[in-house]
Amino acid sequence: MSPLIRIQDLSREYQMGEERILALRGVTLDIVRNEYLAIMGPSGSGKSTLMNLLGCLDTPTGGEYWLNGQEVSRLSDDALARVRNQEIGFVFQTFNLLPRATALHNVELPLVYSGIRGRERRERPTTTATQTVTATGCRTASTPARARRQAGRTPTATGARMHRPS
Ligand SMILES: Nc1ncnc2c1ncn2[C@@H]1O[C@H](COP(=O)(O)OP(=O)(O)OP(=O)(O)O)[C@@H](O)[C@H]1O
Ligand SMILES: [Mg+2]
Repeated sequence: MSPLIRIQDLSREYQMGEERILALRGVTLDIVRNEYLAIMGPSGSGKSTLMNLLGCLDTPTGGEYWLNGQEVSRLSDDALARVRNQEIGFVFQTFNLLPRATALHNVELPLVYSGIRGRERRERPTTTATQTVTATGCRTASTPARARRQAGRTPTATGARMHRPS
């Protein structure tokens, strides 16, 4: 099986004035479809740097990143935004939910950006993400703050990926 994610000799340097910081030093890794992976390491070892690269939020200063057969390590910001919209689901540590939008609308929003029309948009989250949202104990009409109060916890599942599994 060809890997869904293939990174080869990936590195990321930061320049801070005179100082050059090598945040990620030549990481090589394959991840196949449906594989679950935990990236562990001490503080400062480069986990967030690697996640930012894997999530196409940042580009490497060296090496290659192939996502689903496409080299994404040299793409422009606009092209990376399209890849993020189509290929990647990210649950951020700080959630990054829109506080005034309902849980359902938060889940639906990436589909708006990808140009999917209203009816399909509403059907799609209804069959996938809203089930997940409901399973967390919050109502889909709730805003994140209200859902948090109702469920007694943060609705992290609202950040879950909504595209149909391939
Ligand atoms: N924007 C930046 N500019 C300069 N140096 C940075 C930047 N981001 C990260 N670094 C440095 O790169 C190294 C790796 O940082 P990173 O945040 O990836 O580590 P981490 O493993 O996520 O740490 P933590 O467990 O504390 O979250 C650290 O030395 C950090 O100081
Ligand atoms: Mg980190």
